[in-house]
Amino acid sequence: MTLEGSPASSHVVDTPALTLENVSAGIGPLTILHDLSMVVPARKIVVVLGANGAGKTTLLRTIAGLLPPRSGSICLFGEPIHGRPAHLVTRAGIGHVPSGRELFPRLSVADHLELAGKVASPSRRTEIREQLLEMFPVLAERLRQPVGTMSGGQQQMVAIARALMTDPRVLLLDEPSTGLAPKVVLAVFETLPVLRAQGVSVVVAEQSLTLGLSHADEAFVLDHGRVVLSGAASELAQDHRVIDTYLGR
Ligand SMILES: Nc1ncnc2c1ncn2[C@@H]1O[C@H](COP(=O)(O)OP(=O)(O)OP(=O)(O)O)[C@@H](O)[C@H]1O
Ligand SMILES: [Mg+2]
Repeated sequence: MTLEGSPASSHVVDTPALTLENVSAGIGPLTILHDLSMVVPARKIVVVLGANGAGKTTLLRTIAGLLPPRSGSICLFGEPIHGRPAHLVTRAGIGHVPSGRELFPRLSVADHLELAGKVASPSRRTEIREQLLEMFPVLAERLRQPVGTMSGGQQQMVAIARALMTDPRVLLLDEPSTGLAPKVVLAVFETLPVLRAQGVSVVVAEQSLTLGLSHADEAFVLDHGRVVLSGAASELAQDHRVIDTYLGR
């Protein structure tokens, strides 16, 4: 997170948060992402839409450094990050909330925050922790609770808070709505504009068109590992080709 109006943030306003150029990636003999290019502007919420198996998780894992791209480039505010191991991508400023959250059920909220906080500079740790607990008061009340005993929505908030403890400039969220009741999903999505206002760029993978398009500034539609449509979320919401893509026409 960058504090609004700080000198460090003012010079990067026009540089995109993320630029992917011709990225291909896969697992073993399988190529999953094909020559994929996308730009995530700074301080925007970008949704990556796509049906089951379209490549959303693979895309976020590739950006996060968990899967090295076979070709192409990924730049964070103009600095190449592709080919770096995941922990250095985290250090460079990418926070990743993985699909399925991947929390440690026996560890408490405080434990999760402490472990992740080691990435941030010591001077920022306390500040970020305070901001987070203000944003997620339910976590402040449950700091010592093992996360395995918490509700799905609370666990999703722990997963987001953990990623934010690393002080990211870009936050990647992989289908945060999975398994949550609609009201809880809305509560999770309502945190995204708060992050944007704090200077974080958000990339959220989502299967639901209506949910994704109603909460994002810009959208990319993936199909079979390729970007097939992109644009302002409000414009894509009116575009019949989005639905056609989803229905495979
Ligand atoms: N570990 C793996 N081994 C083999 N194939 C994989 C693996 N992970 C993903 N795939 C394949 O890659 C393609 C893209 O998968 P990915 O998980 O990125 O899609 P997704 O858009 O996140 O889907 P979902 O909405 O179900 O989460 C799918 O065809 C999937 O079967
Ligand atoms: Mg997925």
